[in-house]
Amino acid sequence: MRLETLAQQIGHVKCFADIGSDHAQLPIVMIESGRAQRAIAVEVAKGPYEATREAIEQAWLQDRIEARLGNGLDPISSGEVELVAIAGMGAQTMWEILTTPHADEVLSAHGGVSLALQPMAQGGLMRYFAVQGHYQVAYDQRVVAHGLRYEVMRLNKRTRGEKEALAPRALELRAAYDRLSPYEKWRFTFGEHGLRDRCPHVLAHMKEEVAALQQIQNRLRTGQTERSKSRIPVIEEELAALMELIGETYEIPRSAFY
Ligand SMILES: C[S@@+](CC[C@H](N)C(=O)[O-])C[C@H]1O[C@@H](n2cnc3c(N)ncnc32)[C@H](O)[C@@H]1O
Repeated sequence: MRLETLAQQIGHVKCFADIGSDHAQLPIVMIESGRAQRAIAVEVAKGPYEATREAIEQAWLQDRIEARLGNGLDPISSGEVELVAIAGMGAQTMWEILTTPHADEVLSAHGGVSLALQPMAQGGLMRYFAVQGHYQVAYDQRVVAHGLRYEVMRLNKRTRGEKEALAPRALELRAAYDRLSPYEKWRFTFGEHGLRDRCPHVLAHMKEEVAALQQIQNRLRTGQTERSKSRIPVIEEELAALMELIGETYEIPRSAFY
């Protein structure tokens, strides 16, 4: 379901790259369903790279899917692909892959390469990346598979005028994300699409975050150290901002959580 949703969001492409391909499931699904003509499956680690090659051979797709060993977008030349997919990794790793000088070159080819992303954690960082990189969020969906909730998003490059490279400002921007106010951070965490659509999966996610923060709050209140005492206002601020957003979006009052 997770990779099928990603494949649906990708739609039809001539050639795309799957970074961190492992068993090459996404490129195989894309080729076998007729949605892609060619794919490049990149792996940084030797073991998964061998698994990628074997899976491609077993599917008899060596003429359509090429396995390459290397870090992130390094093995991809500028102009080779019209879309880059990255699934099953944390958003911090995705951020690092997408903000190198070489990534700037690869992603600015064809007037803007699209992205299909499925971050395992910190999806908000990818939505922040979309804003900073002048991408339009075409899809931002939640998929539940095997009892786990996954975030799957498609970002299209806005083509007019924004050629600015991210790599020179990557560290500064990453630090700026951490300095966002709790309210801004929550908006990125849940995403404008999910908030606009009042997505039930987003509400479930919000309730989990409230429960987790309340648990931390209770633990800190019983803690004796100066460090635990100093963290209480930080957690309270995060909780207040989250409840404000839940109230605005789903019209659920704060009292419902106490
Ligand atoms: C959990 S697997 C996900 C596999 C597949 N994309 C999926 O979603 O089912 C993550 C893979 O990403 C690879 N990986 C991690 N960092 C990478 C990087 N910088 N460049 C290329 N591959 C990377 C790992 O070796 C691992 O095989």
